[in-house]
Amino acid sequence: MDSFEMTKIAGAVLSALLLIVGTKTFIESTSHRKLATPGYELPAAAEPAAVAGAEGAAAEGAAAEGAAPAGGDIGPDAVALLPKASAENGKAIFAKCKSCHTADKGKPNGVGPNLFGVVNRAKAKADGFKYSEAMVAKSGEWTFENLSHFIADPKSYVAGTKMVFKGLPAAAERADLIAYLATLADTPVPLPK
Ligand code: HEC
Repeated sequence: MDSFEMTKIAGAVLSALLLIVGTKTFIESTSHRKLATPGYELPAAAEPAAVAGAEGAAAEGAAAEGAAPAGGDIGPDAVALLPKASAENGKAIFAKCKSCHTADKGKPNGVGPNLFGVVNRAKAKADGFKYSEAMVAKSGEWTFENLSHFIADPKSYVAGTKMVFKGLPAAAERADLIAYLATLADTPVPLPK
């Protein structure tokens, strides 16, 4: 083996070493960069939610107004407020629904079904409206309680509904809105006393 060959071998070994060290450094630096942010932020983001949940549980029914529909009973809370609900105010709140729903008797369906007579009507029964399979599969009637639950959080009440509405968490607003829906009938549905 002459010295020229020795130099070639030494060179090859050196470049192999360089490649290994270089790759290792590169991997370490990139993986560190990736880990740095989420590693810290995930638990931090989860914490406020847990605190909010605990507060919500502590406040219980007392602060029904404005309470987020996180789990729990979101149907009955608005129903309890119905005796004092304002249909007048509910009519104004119905502005949130008007882009998709008609309210007058005989008006054609919009993006959503016509809501005349919806209180106590069987679900998914507006003439000529093509409901989602999820809604068709949901049995029962639109009682005050069911309406409250659905309006509070449509997707939690009917998973797979095609009603694209994020929900109305404030119980008092839902109560007023339901009081208004109750007037949309030939004979308005009486509210609980
Ligand atoms: C972006 C459009 C949109 C908005 C806004 C909207 N809805 Fe709907 N709604 C729909 C659609 C679509 C359906 C049919 C859902 C299905 O088939 O899954 C529906 C269904 C319903 C039903 C069931 C009716 C039946 O015949 O079974 C009720 C009740 C209802 N909506 C009430 C409301 C109320 C109250 C509001 C306002 C707070 C509202 N919706 C806002 C689109 C909308």
